[in-house]
Amino acid sequence: MRILSGIQPSGTLHIGNYFGMMKPAIELQERGEAYYFIADYHSMTSLFDPEQRRQNTLGVALDFLACGLDPKRSVFWRQSDVAEVTELTWIIGTLTPMGLLERAHSYKDKTARGISPNFGLFAYPVLMAADILLFDSNLVPVGRDQKQHVEMTRDIAIKFNQAYGETLVVPEPEIRDETAIVPGLDGQKMSKSYGNTVEIFGDEKAIRKKIMGIKMDSRTPAEPKPNADQNIAIQLLKLVAPAEVARETEERLRAGGLGYGDLKKALFEHYWSFFAPARAKRAELAANLDYVNGVLRDGAERARATATVVLERARRACGLA
Ligand code: TYM
Repeated sequence: MRILSGIQPSGTLHIGNYFGMMKPAIELQERGEAYYFIADYHSMTSLFDPEQRRQNTLGVALDFLACGLDPKRSVFWRQSDVAEVTELTWIIGTLTPMGLLERAHSYKDKTARGISPNFGLFAYPVLMAADILLFDSNLVPVGRDQKQHVEMTRDIAIKFNQAYGETLVVPEPEIRDETAIVPGLDGQKMSKSYGNTVEIFGDEKAIRKKIMGIKMDSRTPAEPKPNADQNIAIQLLKLVAPAEVARETEERLRAGGLGYGDLKKALFEHYWSFFAPARAKRAELAANLDYVNGVLRDGAERARATATVVLERARRACGLA
């Protein structure tokens, strides 16, 4: 089984990225051939600073490796190092109905927020479909916000196969219910564009301040809280604390025996220790950038070996070869 996923270098990674995609992706390394990449072409639709892109890309590489991506087991590369994906984007783009792209949530959200759309932003799901299809991927671990994109990929693959004969593998999304949408500090989906994130490798003081600033409902702490499960601090605690600890804390909160300040302090402490091993690993990697660049170079070579075979198959099928 082939597993594939990507992540954009559009800023600092947050725990929504971690629990929604990286953690499942890291666990799936055990179950098949894992292909993971840094989607730097995609970042071009919204980030226009070359130095920033270079830094973010290196940052994502460090983050993913520090969190447990094992380059001996997985293929890990920078999307733009395997430029074959842009040819497949063109090929499948000619079979992608405009209407399908016009219905894309992420495109509609971005334009609704006033971002003036470019062709790349509109074509974003086609490039993502090409990422997935270029590697004969079976399973794509993502957060809920990417579900529609994987469904579009399936539609495109089916259409290609109908037009040109069985050529492309139709993938399935893998979305875990518990972490499909990790909430941000304000209760909306955690997202860089909402400014509500907790970074994976954030500065201690800054994150403590963010967590202590989570808004709680206004009832006095002593009053029992029947809606504890909707409490953002509890939802985040469930991700970073041992299950037993999270359950006890929730019970105390429901019973009115735990103040919000103490709850948030506990959340910070558990967050901080949850990522402590990865933080140490990241510092080690940051001091050894030759190794990290070597991993990406080697990953690009291995990714290209697979990509060229599938691209050739697609070219032949549609009469280009
Ligand atoms: P990106 O970079 O926005 O996010 C990376 C992954 O993190 C997940 N995620 C979340 N999951 C749960 N809760 C949240 N609050 C949360 N925020 C982010 C996203 O769902 C995603 O899985 N288009 C993709 C990158 C991409 C890709 C691909 C993914 C490009 N090509 C091919 C899979 C396959 C993106 O922008 O993800």
